[in-house]
Amino acid sequence: MNIDIWHGDITTLDVDAIVNAANESLLGGGGVDGAIHSAAGPGLLAECARLPELRPGVRCPPGEVRATAGHALPARHVFHAVGPVWHGGQRDEAALLANCYWQSLRLAEQMRLESIAFPAISCGVYGYPMHQAAAIAVTETVTWQKSHARPVRIVLVAYNTATFKAYQQALAVAAQA
Ligand code: APR
Repeated sequence: MNIDIWHGDITTLDVDAIVNAANESLLGGGGVDGAIHSAAGPGLLAECARLPELRPGVRCPPGEVRATAGHALPARHVFHAVGPVWHGGQRDEAALLANCYWQSLRLAEQMRLESIAFPAISCGVYGYPMHQAAAIAVTETVTWQKSHARPVRIVLVAYNTATFKAYQQALAVAAQA
């Protein structure tokens, strides 16, 4: 098992791809999305706006991922993943969140990337319970690594101490399995 937990700001990471916790419009927002757009500069928003709309206002539905360049970020690419809004767990939230991780890893493999970093998708404004989300992040990334060579380096970024502890606990559970 080779998953790193890193405490800090994802926009500073020099990796092949950082994942953004975006919304369906892909036109920016607050939280990590706002931080990524600020650090990447206006070229990122312009590139997002050029991505095709599936229907008005929707460039990427929940559980899916779209790739752009990293623009002014140290990361070469940004993968915009749209997590589910938490509604209590009865609206397929777990499967949609798992898809965000799995589809990002699949895209990284297709693009032959070596390293990818994830924020805690859906755990801010979208309200996903942190411990449940950490278990999904760890399960998906560990399962992926067992059967795929790339990406070699997978980083789970914790922006605060509670997130860091949740990832530590989830990794400890996975190590016992
Ligand atoms: N680096 C790493 N993690 C960060 C950063 C950062 N710079 N800033 C915030 N985070 C963490 C938050 O602490 C939280 O754990 O990212 C996690 C996800 O929180 P949000 O950014 O609120 O994302 P989410 O819950 O998926 O909600 C998405 O928020 O701003 C909007 O456009 C976005 O509408 C979308 C919604």
